[in-house]
Amino acid sequence: MTHIAICIGSACHLRGAHGVLRAFSALVEKYRLSATIDLAGNFCQGRCTEGVVIKIDDEIITNVSQEKVFAIFQEKVLKEGSV
Ligand code: FES
Repeated sequence: MTHIAICIGSACHLRGAHGVLRAFSALVEKYRLSATIDLAGNFCQGRCTEGVVIKIDDEIITNVSQEKVFAIFQEKVLKEGSV
């Protein structure tokens, strides 16, 4: 199980966290990975100036935008052998 958490604190919210969450959600659906990926929102990670902040398992990734989601998904999720 891969855990993806998207910060939905106020700073990340303003920087587009909901778009990032929607983009991840669409990819999880597209690749039919809902059984192996746990997608959730979480609270402020304390790195508000670097938002949107996401966490994939124990790795924190900063400055995520909706446009970057597919590349991150490909690199961190699809290549980790979850598929
Ligand atoms: S609001 Fe996302 S890191 Fe603070």
